[in-house]
This record gives sequence, structure tokens and C-alpha cells, in this order.
Amino acid sequence: MNYTIVIFGGNGDLTYRKLLPALYNLTHDNILANRFAVVGVGRRDYTNERYHEDIYSALKKFSRFNIDDALWNQLKQNIYYKQVDFKDKDSYIDLDLYLKEIDERYQTDSKRIYYYAVAPEYFEIITDNLAHQNMHHINDNWPKVVIEKPFGRDLKSAQYLNKKIVSTFTEKNTYRIDHYLGKEMLQNIMVIRFANSLFEPLWSSKYIEQVQITSSETIGIGTRGEYFEKSGAIRDMAQSHLLQLLCLIAMEKPKSLNSDDIKDEKVKVLNSLTKFTIDNIDSSIALGQYEGYRNEDKVRPTSNIETYVAFKTFVNNERWNGVPFYIRTGKKLPVKTTEIIIEFKKPINNLYEDIKTPNYLVIRVQPKEGVFFQFNAKVPGTIQKIVPVQMDFCQNCQVGLNSPEAYERLIYDITRGDLTLFARWDEVEASWVFIDDIIKYRRESKPNFPNYKPGEWGPEKADEILKKDNHKWITFEN
Ligand code: BG6
Repeated sequence: MNYTIVIFGGNGDLTYRKLLPALYNLTHDNILANRFAVVGVGRRDYTNERYHEDIYSALKKFSRFNIDDALWNQLKQNIYYKQVDFKDKDSYIDLDLYLKEIDERYQTDSKRIYYYAVAPEYFEIITDNLAHQNMHHINDNWPKVVIEKPFGRDLKSAQYLNKKIVSTFTEKNTYRIDHYLGKEMLQNIMVIRFANSLFEPLWSSKYIEQVQITSSETIGIGTRGEYFEKSGAIRDMAQSHLLQLLCLIAMEKPKSLNSDDIKDEKVKVLNSLTKFTIDNIDSSIALGQYEGYRNEDKVRPTSNIETYVAFKTFVNNERWNGVPFYIRTGKKLPVKTTEIIIEFKKPINNLYEDIKTPNYLVIRVQPKEGVFFQFNAKVPGTIQKIVPVQMDFCQNCQVGLNSPEAYERLIYDITRGDLTLFARWDEVEASWVFIDDIIKYRRESKPNFPNYKPGEWGPEKADEILKKDNHKWITFEN
């Protein structure tokens, strides 16, 4: 099957860092259809050759494989650049003619994937202009549209956007990206939970004391100031990636591995998250901004946008009754890591007095991928001493294992029409219902920003949220 991938935002950060390296890696592994074309669509006045130069240097930096020049020379013959003003209807007349020529050359039967790798404010106008030029409907299965997150700015705008997208392209041809879903370890969470008789019986408030989900980054905002000023960490990370992680940990066993059955269970989790109340919201959320953020490119000097958010929530059902879920994410933190820590309750009939540490199950999403379990054991010798020891399964430490990037998996799934790892509309909608309260809190509170230094673990208030529960943020050496 032949097709054309049309990337709106062809010169953007995401395209150079993630999408084109993913396409190179998929070609390297010989996974995609033999004949496909990529058209980068952007505002810059570039020739194909100029575009290839940019891509080549990006691939060298961001591809997980060393670049094989012979392979690149082959691939680049299928990568084109087309200058388009996204807002200008007439530009699309030209774009359509250009794509028709490509369709013809590659015998694609007009099968196109429109990938919106642009700032969210362009999602609507591009959709309108594609529809105006009648480029939005070929048959029941094509074209497909791929939309980056955040899908909307809040519940209302997400509902509006969804109506527009789905009425133009249909739900079954809409791919809402949350690239965390393409990560190896996220796909592994369900296996760990439901393919082992060891964990599932313990997976409830009877045995679990708390759950912590951390996604921290060492980088700052870099060149993404303009985007970040409109999103902040809440929309950028919490609404999508972090809530997806929470869902996978908290959901009930789905009826089957069918995509809709899994999503049904996730939606139930999102709908069960406890609503914040006037009484608890301030003690449940911490917002932060790193020192120096206001001096970043395209950031307002008085900006109140958060580069850090932490919150505590509960999943209001029988399984999770009373178990706090602490979630945090931020830029310019001490380490780059995404991990989930499940802390188990200490044994009740405690025979040994010196049990200081509970059991932990740690699911490491990145940079290390794997799972480790910490339990207590006796120190060899005549004196009775108990210490924590760890069983460590490190998936990507195995020699020769170079896990595919999330975007490789997702692009591959789009080309074969598999929606499993993409967010369904009701998931997105339910996540906004929850996140809207945090956004409202952000708008109404007057945080004293900046409130953490680069290299620190966010603002002090994030520690206070846990302190009240006699907990603290846990970090394990990565
Ligand atoms: C993106 C966010 O969705 O995820 C970025 O927009 C963030 O701000 C990135 O840096 C983190 O992704 P990963 O895969 O590096 O954890």
C-alpha cells in the first residue's frame, strides 16, 4: 500500500527531532510500505535540497541509529518540501495540485496522512482550509489526520475542536497523539499487572500505601517559549501523559485487549478521580516556575506560566479507597526520568523491629526501561540486621537492545490504521474535566514565581503536600 505523509509544521522542532528520525529508523528496519512519500509543509521558502540538509543534520543528532548515507540518499528522494501559508485558503489550491502530482507518481490512490505537527492554534484553520479545498474526504478510510497534543486548551475548546475534526475527517480516521502511549514501558504496564499472578492480588488499598508518578526533565523551555507560554506544564504534560500513566496503573482489568475495552476502563478511572474542593485544592496542588524562565526567548518578563506542577488525587472506587496518587512533572529538575513508584504497606504482624523500609515496585519508563522491586532481607552474619535489597529488571540494559522510539511505533500504527495507542475522544474529554479545575486554580492563585532554582526538585510546596500525609517524594538512583 502506498501513501503520502503530509507534515504540517515541516520545519518544526517536533518534525526534526522526532518525526523524521522515526521515519528514518522505520526505513532502516524496513518496516514501512515500499513506496511512500513525505511532504514537509511549512512557511519557509525552502527547496527540497535545502530541506534535506536540515533533515540530515537533525537525523545525525536525533536518530537512534547511526546514519547510513546510502540509506539516507535513498530515503531523501521521497522527501519533499512545499511552502504553504497555513492561514491562506489559496495556498491550499497549490498544495492540492502538488499533492495530486505526488499521488500520481507514487500511485497512492490519494491515500494521505495529514500530520498536524503545528502549534494548536493552527489545528482549526488547517482543517477548515483542507475541507474548503475538498482535500478532506477520499473514501471511508482516507485521509487520516494526526493531531498532536494538547488537544484543546480546556474542556470547552477541546469539545469545539473535536466536533470540527470529527465532522471533517470522522472519528475512525482521527489519531490523537499522546506519544507516551507509544513508549515500550507503557505498553508493558498492563502486561506486568495482568500477566503476573504476583502483583494483581496486591493491587489495592489493602496493600498499597501510595502511588507516585514522576516525569521530570533537566531541559528548560529552549526554543519553545511561544508554545509554552500558552500551555504550561499542566496542559503540556499533566492533561495527557501523566493522566495516561495514572490510568494504566489504576484501571480495572479490561474485558479484552481490544482497544475500546481498554479505553473504557481508562475512562472509568478518569471519571473516578476525586474533584478538588475549595477546602482541599490549595493543599493538593503545587505550581512552580524555574528561575530564569522569564528570560527565555519569547517568554513574557512577567510570565506566570508554570514550568512545574504537582498534585495529589484519589481514585474514588473500592480498589483505591484512600490511596493517594501523587503526580509531578517539571522542567529544569535534577534528572530526566519518568517512573511510577508503588509503595506497599509495611507488614502488619511485624516480627522484626528494625524494618525501616517498605516494599517498592518501581516501573521505570525512561531513560532506563524496566522494573525493580525492593524488599527486605537479612544481612549475612550473626547479628540480626535487615536491609532493603533490590531485584532489578532493566529492559534496555540488554546488549543489542535498542528500543524503538515512541513515534516509530505510532507512525507505523497510523499507516496500518490501528487506533489502539491513540486517545479516544471520551478519554480526552474526561481528562479535561479533571484538568480544568487545576487550570482554574492556576488562573486564580497568585503564585510567587519564580520559586525554584534550576537543578532543584521544584518548589517547597510540593514537599508540603506529601508531608501532611507523612509521605515524601521518593527517588531511586537511575
Ligand atoms: C512533550 C512535551 O509532549 O513531551 C514536551 O510537549 C516534553 O514539553 C516531552 O519535553 C517529553 O517527552 P519525553 O518522551 O522526552 O519524555
